[in-house]
Amino acid sequence: MKNNTTAHRSLINQLKKPAKAKSDASRRRESFDFDWKFFKGDKPGAEQPDFSDADWRNLDLPHDWSIEGPFREEHGSMTSAHLPTGTGWYRKHFKIPASYRNKKVTIEFDGIYQNSEVWINGQYLRKRPYGYISFYYDISPYLNFSGENLMAVRVDNSHQPNCRWYSGSGIYRHTWLRVTDKLHIAHWGTFVTTDKASEKSATVQIITRVQNEGKNDIMCTLSTSVLECDGSAVQTAETSRNIAAGGEYEFIQKVKITNPSLWSPDNPYLHKVRSTVIKQGKATDIYDTVFGVRSIEFDKDKGFLLNGRQVKLHGVCLHHEAGAVGAAVPERVWERRLEKLKEMGCNAIRTSHNPYSPEFMDLCDRMGFLVMAEIYDEWKEPKPQTPDFGYRIYFDEWSERDVTDFIRRDRNHPSVVIWSAGNEVVDQVVPAGTETLKKLINIFHREDPTRPVTVGCDRIVAEPEAVPQKFLKLLDVVGYNYVDRWRDRYEKYYSIDRQAFPKRKFIGTENGSLGGIRGDYSYLFPQTTGPISRRNNNRWIDFEQMWKFVSTYDYVSGDFMWTGIDYLGESNWPRKANTSGVIDTCGFEKDTWYFCQSQWTDKPMLHIFPHWNWPGKEGEYVPVLCYTNCDSVELFLNGKSLGIQSYWFPRSGMQGEYEDFPARNSIPRTTEDLHLTWTVPYQPGKLKAVGMKNGKEVVTEEISTTGKPAAIRLCADRKIIAADRIDIAHITCKILDAQGRVVPVADNEITFKIQGEGKIIGLDNGNPVSHEDYQANHRKAFNGLCLVIIQSADKNGIIQLSATSPGLKSDSITITTKQFAKGEIK
Ligand code: GAL
Repeated sequence: MKNNTTAHRSLINQLKKPAKAKSDASRRRESFDFDWKFFKGDKPGAEQPDFSDADWRNLDLPHDWSIEGPFREEHGSMTSAHLPTGTGWYRKHFKIPASYRNKKVTIEFDGIYQNSEVWINGQYLRKRPYGYISFYYDISPYLNFSGENLMAVRVDNSHQPNCRWYSGSGIYRHTWLRVTDKLHIAHWGTFVTTDKASEKSATVQIITRVQNEGKNDIMCTLSTSVLECDGSAVQTAETSRNIAAGGEYEFIQKVKITNPSLWSPDNPYLHKVRSTVIKQGKATDIYDTVFGVRSIEFDKDKGFLLNGRQVKLHGVCLHHEAGAVGAAVPERVWERRLEKLKEMGCNAIRTSHNPYSPEFMDLCDRMGFLVMAEIYDEWKEPKPQTPDFGYRIYFDEWSERDVTDFIRRDRNHPSVVIWSAGNEVVDQVVPAGTETLKKLINIFHREDPTRPVTVGCDRIVAEPEAVPQKFLKLLDVVGYNYVDRWRDRYEKYYSIDRQAFPKRKFIGTENGSLGGIRGDYSYLFPQTTGPISRRNNNRWIDFEQMWKFVSTYDYVSGDFMWTGIDYLGESNWPRKANTSGVIDTCGFEKDTWYFCQSQWTDKPMLHIFPHWNWPGKEGEYVPVLCYTNCDSVELFLNGKSLGIQSYWFPRSGMQGEYEDFPARNSIPRTTEDLHLTWTVPYQPGKLKAVGMKNGKEVVTEEISTTGKPAAIRLCADRKIIAADRIDIAHITCKILDAQGRVVPVADNEITFKIQGEGKIIGLDNGNPVSHEDYQANHRKAFNGLCLVIIQSADKNGIIQLSATSPGLKSDSITITTKQFAKGEIK
């Protein structure tokens, strides 16, 4: 069996680049992101080519004007992170080569928030209300091949609130110009499935829609090859067919492959289908579809099965934006965040509560995440937070189109294992809601018979005759939101429902906010005069108990925790961000990140907290908590043992070893929780935790009382980035004491200076109440850390970032920008 995990990077490179055409096939997909003009506000007449935009701002897409601020309480709703919304205009002047004259030219928008209207050379194309959907327009009939062309886009995000979280405003995702021959494969026109896949063989079915937009009927051949990730062909099928002028034909082909490398989170091996349309011996179109060979099944008893094996979903819910960069998220920002989630042991993501960007879905394929792809937060009934302008006002006119486009765009991703038609829709408890769900499910099943459909339901009740039960009966897999909110809930709604509905398939669509504010322990001292009580940590404890239940019972497929990462919005002034993540908006892990790691990974780890800087608290009790996957942990303060602690309940995945759990009888103090606790009378110095497995020391962690802030340290995630006006580097800025230890309470203000071939596109510190400008050149550290995101220009060279702060030793860092040749590995 082939394994590509070590060759991850090179595989990414191979599959990212479109295959080289071996013929005169004209398909091209060019970025349309650079050199737009922008005006914030409304400008009647700005769609006209002769309108003057000379004084408009120049910028590149993706662009989110909301994130540019400023934060103001009067910007209102908890949904917009107190950032401005409103209306904006974009214009782009461009030329089209004469060679495209007989071609089909299409503009693709990956996402515009929201209510976009597009004009080409003054000609109105259409409106598209839903801000999270990808869409495209044929612009061939309106192009000017001898002179300049003008594309104008009006974006209207003025009707607020229209979303329950931070949406961003503008053309916040990529734009593309696509050129094809008139005989071509339709947009999102391939559908690759691998229904019966095993390590021995798989049958790959490829449905391909070919369109003939020419004036004559054409006899054409569709040649379809399945390729390995190195580009070598495995099998090819060929079918010929006459397609009438102006018509289309859907080819259905099957290719059998032997000993395929199966896609999974541990082995995200990607295949490719290359579809070639041939007319009179010449290729008119070549199109590549990346896919994975894998089988999926949700089983009422065994939960989720991937390639025939049970996989518990260790999931997190996310939102689509990324802190300092708002909704215009560079791909590398997501890649770094996903790396952090992977390291934590997360294997599944719910795209709450809307379609994500295409590159996010590609990352999930390449990095190995199982995705619950969700489309809506609202159907026909309003939510209290969006009484007037939520999606419901577009539902009747647009949902059929939006759902179809959503599925067609994303149904080839091996990562997508289940669709979610909605989250906590009020329609669950309205009689007509069942009809709405029926219609939606029909579209899902029509467009993709291979994946089940769920809904994140928060109104589940156990009486079989209640409205929600009719609703739930329609779902392929029933999604439970917040079974952990009260102690007995997972018992009630999982165990009782399992008995009442023995055929039901269960999934935890959304549960438990572990969250907390990174590095903030201000909650400790108000109540801590003795051992920490369970009550103080109710939220964590409930989640822990729920997780024990989910990890024990196979029939629950897994869980999606609310949320993996902090997100903007859904917070009341002065807060701008919701801190339910186990990672903050900078991508820095919180203590609760280690809880997940302790449950979801095997490499020995432990993490103790809080920090050990408590001046004036000598002798007072501090609860020291530990997350670990070790059998037991011994804690020492300044060399003196504070005792060994151990779990009574083994962590998930250890059920088989339960009876032999070594700590059960031999360790003095055990706990039913999934964390360990010592109550320690505070003394400055060093806390050391020693983790043991099978009686052997396997991992240690130390935290020390630090000195005062003395120096700044800059660390980059990558020292070389592409010189392409797209690529970025994350620079973590740490505040250190004289001995080089991060000062966990430091909040010094740092000023950054950037020189060379790049710019700062965002500064952040993860503090949910900071109203500092995300795009300034200075930032306060928050609990010892802050983050700078820098983006390359388009020249080979260097970027130098320096950081200064009064009283601290400054630091600087150099990043190289390099124009990579095609196929070259970064
Ligand atoms: C859930 C909802 C999420 C988020 C969360 C906040 O009920 O589905 O979108 O609002 O509550 O705790």
